[in-house]
Amino acid sequence: MEALKNSILKNKVPTHIAIIMDGNGRWAKLKNKPRIFGHKNGVNSVRETIEACGDIGIEYLTLYAFSTENWNRPKLEVKTLMALLVSSLKKELKILQENNIKLNTIGNINDLPKSAQKELKEVIEKTKNNNALTLTLALSYGSRDEIVNVIKNISKKVVNNELQIEEIDENIINNHLYTFSLPDVDFLIRTSGEKRISNFLLWQIAYAEMYFTNTLWPDFKKENLYNAVLEYQHRERRFGKTSEQIEKINE
Ligand code: IPE
Ligand code: IPE
Ligand code: MG
Repeated sequence: MEALKNSILKNKVPTHIAIIMDGNGRWAKLKNKPRIFGHKNGVNSVRETIEACGDIGIEYLTLYAFSTENWNRPKLEVKTLMALLVSSLKKELKILQENNIKLNTIGNINDLPKSAQKELKEVIEKTKNNNALTLTLALSYGSRDEIVNVIKNISKKVVNNELQIEEIDENIINNHLYTFSLPDVDFLIRTSGEKRISNFLLWQIAYAEMYFTNTLWPDFKKENLYNAVLEYQHRERRFGKTSEQIEKINE
């Protein structure tokens, strides 16, 4: 694994990785266990991924932990997921501190149970001066919901004459998204074999490289992250230009 890690070019890693952590339920089902057993084991993969990102110098990692649509799951699963969030935050604070990681959230945090809000607030406060990796948890997050909020907030400013319609551009929109403090996503990973976006960061992934793997989230370990980043490093990101233009820039 050291050899694998060392084959990653440190100056060409994606700045911002986003992950749709999927497949916990199926992983548990394969083992004849309840779905929540999969979620619990998924926490280990979160820890491995965070450490792996730290090791290769990733600056931003955003994890899709709970979508606006996930509220429609059975009540007991939602309740247990929220409890797992609180206990994991308590347990993993040490890892965040040791690895100089700053916690951030996106989504409708106000919709989460009070206990989760309180724990998040505390961990965010305690890690606010860390600066190696910014870990963003998407909680009660939906991209369409985020865009609706952006439009409402920009409209208010226009109505109040704080902003002119002519001034609205991509930058203004970026600054009103939950992700205002994060750069665009460079690399989007989804586990479990599903090839869809499920309402995650629609605006922010406009030019992200996509990586879909059949590995179920609880089986996703450091090695899987390194392999994914290695594949990223073999892609040519053209941003609308020609291959020849890109080669010239890289010369
Ligand atoms: C991802 O795993 C975790 C959350 C969405 C909270 P799933 O719970 O979606 O697992 P599958 O897709 O049913 O296997
Ligand atoms: C997406 O996974 C949300 C998270 C990973 C938190 P889902 O399992 O909810 O996605 P769909 O509904 O199968 O697309
Ligand atoms: Mg799923």
